[in-house]
Amino acid sequence: MRAINEYTITDAAIDQMAATPNPRMRQVMESLVRHLHAFAREVDLTPEEWLEGVRFLTAVGQKCTAHRQEFILLSDTLGLSALVNALHDKRVSETVTKSSLLGPFYRQDAPMMKLGDSIISRCKGTEVVFYGRVIDSAGSGIPNALVQVWEPDETGNYDLQKHDPSVMDLRGCFRTDPEGRYYFRGLCPLGYMIPMDGPVGDMIRAQKRHGYRPAHIHFVIGAPGYRELVTALYVAGDAHIDSDTVFGVDESLIIAVNKSDRSSPLPNLPSIHYDFRLAAARDQMSGRVGADPSQVTSRVVEGGA
Ligand code: BEZ
Ligand code: FE
Repeated sequence: MRAINEYTITDAAIDQMAATPNPRMRQVMESLVRHLHAFAREVDLTPEEWLEGVRFLTAVGQKCTAHRQEFILLSDTLGLSALVNALHDKRVSETVTKSSLLGPFYRQDAPMMKLGDSIISRCKGTEVVFYGRVIDSAGSGIPNALVQVWEPDETGNYDLQKHDPSVMDLRGCFRTDPEGRYYFRGLCPLGYMIPMDGPVGDMIRAQKRHGYRPAHIHFVIGAPGYRELVTALYVAGDAHIDSDTVFGVDESLIIAVNKSDRSSPLPNLPSIHYDFRLAAARDQMSGRVGADPSQVTSRVVEGGA
């Protein structure tokens, strides 16, 4: 019989998983056990600390509902979501628009709108026009691409965080025109604090982090034959542009608001112009590091039933 000590336990645990039929699951779980054990050894984890970790993860799970995804928030604040995005981006050789966080506030059932419509239905603030093209890596327009957008209101809250989260605001879906052009009206993006009323907020406070995200608007863009792009545009000059709590900002995604833009389809409004470049699809892999929270909970319920 093998003697179990703080070193032999790692191979003993991995040996028990060796018959896992799915090779990718075997690889991921083996590596997870190796790194988890190495972490416990490195910090010399005590029983109280282990239990504190169990309590924390339990609280993260308890905070999740059909409208709130605390685990995605945890992944985002630990930098794991940004890391998975970076690995995803590395899998294409073409120069295309970088990914950024999907975050916990994406909804898959936003209303379909016409080009030029406003996604603002209830809130107040400065209206801007967002416009540009969805193009391939050679610069040709992609017609009929689906452009999904969402942003928070002037108080820094998404519709999912409101009193009645079933009411939608500041989100919409658009189709590009035959030249790949899109344009719509929305709120000039504002910075906000990530949800701080749960265990992830407790962690952020304990670490003396500010908890802010710089002003941004989210996009998910897809078209048949192209890799789905999940990204966001960040407003230049925001006080937290270099210290985003969830590490979503890339230089290439920073935009300026143009107060007088004669090339804009709505020249009387301030504008934000950006062309999104999509990679050709080589596989069916989704670029979403996250999901509509209601979909995550419904899969847990189905899986547990
Ligand atoms: C967001 O941008 O919506 C977001 C991303 C990560 C954590 C919290 C919010
Ligand atoms: Fe956001």
